[in-house]
Amino acid sequence: MSTPHNKAKNGEIAKTVLMPGDPLRAKFIAENFLENPKLVNTVRNMFAYTGTYNGKGVTVMGSGMGMPSIGIYSYELFQFYGVEKIIRVGSCGAYQKDLKLYDVIIAQGACTDSGFASQYNLNGTFSAISSFELLRKAVEEADKLNIPYHVGNILSSDIFYHDEADSWKKWAKMGVLAVEMESYALFAQAARLNKKALTILTVSDSLVTKEETTAEEREKSFTQMMKIALELA
Ligand code: HPA
Repeated sequence: MSTPHNKAKNGEIAKTVLMPGDPLRAKFIAENFLENPKLVNTVRNMFAYTGTYNGKGVTVMGSGMGMPSIGIYSYELFQFYGVEKIIRVGSCGAYQKDLKLYDVIIAQGACTDSGFASQYNLNGTFSAISSFELLRKAVEEADKLNIPYHVGNILSSDIFYHDEADSWKKWAKMGVLAVEMESYALFAQAARLNKKALTILTVSDSLVTKEETTAEEREKSFTQMMKIALELA
């Protein structure tokens, strides 16, 4: 088994895959949270590691930035590697003033400004939602671990540097909590292929207050997000 973007062999990818955007983040997660991590893909430096967590098989693989990138990797994992669950663990920009830096967001659904779903030729707008089973479990684990969280809608955007600086406020008015660039494609893919997906995010910056985090500061909240995600394997 291999694909144009993944050289992992048959059986080298677990049924549950955690996907940070950054492949070096995947390496960090594997080395700090997994037992016996083994590097199973290096194509384009999109590192994938497979190991165990509490005895259960888990793969951690970078998704890259944006919907085209996560669209490719998640499709291949679901369709060719027999993956059943993908949990994105990423960062986001907050759209609401009650969201503080480092807060954890569990995405219930994702809006988008992308044309990703046009491939399905639907007579309307596809609502991309997370797996209720994974969402419920994530919330239960967060409660158990005493980790505060927000659950709601997010925006998966194609655009990081927007021509209209204030355009995000229209999404904020619709109650959208935060912006990232991948989940809509992940959720749509999971729906189409009858698989399960969830996104857990850490607030890394705020469009409201213009605050930003530094890489080091992100560590603690990142660990909280990882603890929730790993329990879903
Ligand atoms: N925009 C888009 N994606 C992001 C952001 C943002 O402000 N922060 C983290 N991921």
